[in-house]
Amino acid sequence: MIKRNVNDLAILGGEPAFTHKLHVGRPNIGNRERLLDRIRDLLDRRWLTNQGPLVHEFETKICELLGTKHCIVTCNATTALEIAIRALNLTGEVIVPSFTFVATAHALQWQEITPVFSDIDPQTHNLDPRCVEALITPRTSGILATHVWGRPCAIDELIEIATRHRLKLLFDAAHAFSCSYRGRKIGNFGEAEVFSFHATKFLNTFEGGAVVTNEDELAGKIRLMTNFGFAGYDQVTYLGINGKMSEPAAAMGLTGMESLDEFVANNRRHYKRYQEALADVPGVRLIRYDEAEQNNYQYIVLEIDEPKTHISRDLILLSLHAENVLARRYFYPGCHRMEPYRSYFPHAGLLLPATERLCQGVLSLPTGTAIEAHDIDLICDLIRFVIEHGAEVSPRIPLPGNG
Ligand SMILES: Cc1ncc(COP(=O)(O)O)c(C=O)c1O
Repeated sequence: MIKRNVNDLAILGGEPAFTHKLHVGRPNIGNRERLLDRIRDLLDRRWLTNQGPLVHEFETKICELLGTKHCIVTCNATTALEIAIRALNLTGEVIVPSFTFVATAHALQWQEITPVFSDIDPQTHNLDPRCVEALITPRTSGILATHVWGRPCAIDELIEIATRHRLKLLFDAAHAFSCSYRGRKIGNFGEAEVFSFHATKFLNTFEGGAVVTNEDELAGKIRLMTNFGFAGYDQVTYLGINGKMSEPAAAMGLTGMESLDEFVANNRRHYKRYQEALADVPGVRLIRYDEAEQNNYQYIVLEIDEPKTHISRDLILLSLHAENVLARRYFYPGCHRMEPYRSYFPHAGLLLPATERLCQGVLSLPTGTAIEAHDIDLICDLIRFVIEHGAEVSPRIPLPGNG
């Protein structure tokens, strides 16, 4: 429904623009028939988990796509991170961004390794290598860097710092499946990289993840650790955990991989549509993807510059939610403001000015195969309308908790 005056906004009592809810991260689902065939086959085989043929095929296909030597798929990316961290013998302190999903930090803290939060480059939203270097102490054992939104970190600079200080370099590539850095696929950098195949990710296996690496010994260790340390029947040679991916999950992953080009094309089309529709909306900047690289365009992220929009990011968010557009504030409020880190390091924010600013300004919008071009047009019309009337709308929005 088109808004003609501010009273038409759902937050001020009008009808919602959408009758159904539009989510960020609705799953991309490939060919249903292919998926169901695979599920039927695995049921017939009665091989549901434990290094089944579908898991093996999925790992092989990932290696082929990325050009990596080894891939170990897992039940989710958080477990994959925990296993990789342990396999790399990380201890003491590890430098991480605070502007990431909390699992990046939790995977360290869970093993009593201190995540030391570094600030980011406000242009790229990724770790600022200069800030990383300033945080290195004798207790630092590694750097865990996230390729936020699938846009690669300053990989060369991080490799240079890690090499000079003899630190391990691990990448949280949860967002970056099928993306590239200087023409080479993400997955080939640092000691290892970890992907997430969670339902909200570009490629999903319902729940799932993977560690990829080009190091033979590390891969062997990670494979053992993912399966309780079993090196054969009754033979446990390592401390391990259950990080295995199941066969139905691999069936979903293989099916999704057959549609990767379609997912990218769809995401890119959506991205371009948002870009065009929002280009002249004051105070709104859509993140840029480097078109010279391969991107999965899975994230539509706006930076809101409140002095220009005259309405805060949070009020835009509330307005959109009322219209059934369930935009998200990824990664609000930043890991350093979440527990237990907030209690451990109450003043961390003082060292993270770019992170703090960005956490207040970002807004993620719906995209993916579950939404249509006309949905995007309507979402952009809403954003434009709310901002055009920002100064008038802002004071009228009832704040949560204000009755
Ligand atoms: C950057 C980042 N790291 C790690 C994870 C954890 O992934 P998973 O849900 O597969 O454990 C996610 C996603 O949910 C993420 O966005």
